[in-house]
Amino acid sequence: MEFVRSIWENDQDYMAHIGDLLESEELLKLDDITHHHYTTRLIHSLFVSYVSYKIAKRLKLNCRAVARAGLLHDFFHEGREEIAMMKQGSHNFVHPHIAVKNAQRLTELSELEKDIILKHMFMTTTGVGLPKYKESMVVTCVDKYCAISEVSTPVRLKVKEKLSEWSMKLRVVHA
Ligand SMILES: [Fe+2]
Ligand SMILES: [Fe+2]
Repeated sequence: MEFVRSIWENDQDYMAHIGDLLESEELLKLDDITHHHYTTRLIHSLFVSYVSYKIAKRLKLNCRAVARAGLLHDFFHEGREEIAMMKQGSHNFVHPHIAVKNAQRLTELSELEKDIILKHMFMTTTGVGLPKYKESMVVTCVDKYCAISEVSTPVRLKVKEKLSEWSMKLRVVHA
């Protein structure tokens, strides 16, 4: 699924939940960091936040917490090498802890929001406990869905390009 900026920007209910966070220069800097090869860390975070928010709304969960913690789940600026040099554990274990610290400088986090951020790498590394809340489970699943979608985008675009090249050639042959 292609994630288009106007989808979330035109959703006023959603924007009312996260608008204040998007005024932070520190958060907006995530738009300068490539994430999952094809996107930026900010766009990935908005993708996770918005899809999780829509699911939470449908399931009548705390959609404000999901929208906000979803947006802040990858709020870190370090690269893989810098995190490795910290010697505090794997990238997947460490970056949610950095994200919580950065998020707490920006806004007050509830226990639920903290759990959403800390547990979003559930099942990808040891030491991440079971998500305590349904909201945390939604965000960790959506994060994985978005990551797969983002990583596979260049491959899907290449296949699409090849298919249209071949269909053009076939059209020429049969003309
Ligand atoms: Fe993450
Ligand atoms: Fe993520």
